[in-house]
Amino acid sequence: MERKKIILTGDRPTGKLHLGHYVGSLKNRVEMQNSGKYIPYILISDLQALTDNARDPEKIRRNLIEVALDYLAVGIDPKKSIIFVQSQVPELAELTMYYMNLVTLGRLERNPTIKTEIKERGFEKSVPVGFLTYPISQAADITAFDAEVVPGGEDQAPILEQDREIVRTFNAIYGDTLVEPELITPDNNICKRLVGIDGKNKMSKSLDNCIYLSDNPDTIKKKVMSMYTDPNHIKIEDPGDVQNNAVFKYLDAFCTPSHFKKYLPEYKNLDELKAHYQRGGVGDVKIKKFLNDILQEILEPIRERRHYYEQHIDFVYDMLEEGSREARKKAQEVLKRVRRAIGIEYFEDIKLRHSVYTNIDDNK
Ligand code: TRP
Repeated sequence: MERKKIILTGDRPTGKLHLGHYVGSLKNRVEMQNSGKYIPYILISDLQALTDNARDPEKIRRNLIEVALDYLAVGIDPKKSIIFVQSQVPELAELTMYYMNLVTLGRLERNPTIKTEIKERGFEKSVPVGFLTYPISQAADITAFDAEVVPGGEDQAPILEQDREIVRTFNAIYGDTLVEPELITPDNNICKRLVGIDGKNKMSKSLDNCIYLSDNPDTIKKKVMSMYTDPNHIKIEDPGDVQNNAVFKYLDAFCTPSHFKKYLPEYKNLDELKAHYQRGGVGDVKIKKFLNDILQEILEPIRERRHYYEQHIDFVYDMLEEGSREARKKAQEVLKRVRRAIGIEYFEDIKLRHSVYTNIDDNK
């Protein structure tokens, strides 16, 4: 049998998860989990969330359970995946400490994802050290489990690149010790970075342009109906643009030929619908209704499963505790290897005691 590959990925517990998380990473994770070819570790990165929320720990504390519920809701199965909490694995902090010596300040400041995030948070004048260095701690998250595969959205690419550099540097200095991870983004380009319902920016809680996995049917419908389309498509018969049209981007991300059969049988597939919209003759309400039907169909079972686990909160917390215990076991093994590689396992190594001061006791 083929050896199972280890996956590690995770999310910051700063809010409920949304459709961007779903198409960017969650869906991939569930498929990989169910393929039986992987051992998935899924981390809720509360320490990383604290790097820009240190003064609001209550937010993190409150949202830990929301993220766990969203995981279970989309089908992450604790029998097949190890779901755990970053802060409950202190080995990650120790690894971060060793990796910090292998990265320069300039390299951290050049990371494009961090640069954007610094701007978004107004940190230009004074960025918390912990925030600037979170890619280093993310390298610890990944390497502590010997993860080879990290499913994530495109924004994770610069972070992963930095993590890979850390692994290569570590291995070059201390010998082959760490596994170099690879980012797996969705095949569909639209899904790598799903736009928000404003059609402009990436879907993101701080921009208030999200459809949450836990939104109720009315909210979903309202949000879809308010979505950005083509401002020049005024009358139904006007030709419309499908490129910069958020509704079509979502259709690209979510719809399948079977959705057409069910909800819009006058078209065979998305290409036909797009062509008609571009020629003119298709109204925005029609495409929005279609998208709404699709999203309702996808989100209903997710919402129902979430509702079930909301009634079984003890189970969810116990699962996180158990997952953290199991994750910790694995991280401890890797940490032992790292300490040996660096040569700070002083009390395990009897030879070290006698390497300089040889056998003084025996010479008496
Ligand atoms: N940076 C990720 C996010 O913002 C969360 C995260 C923390 C993560 N550690 C990770 C993702 C390790 C992948 C691998 O959502």
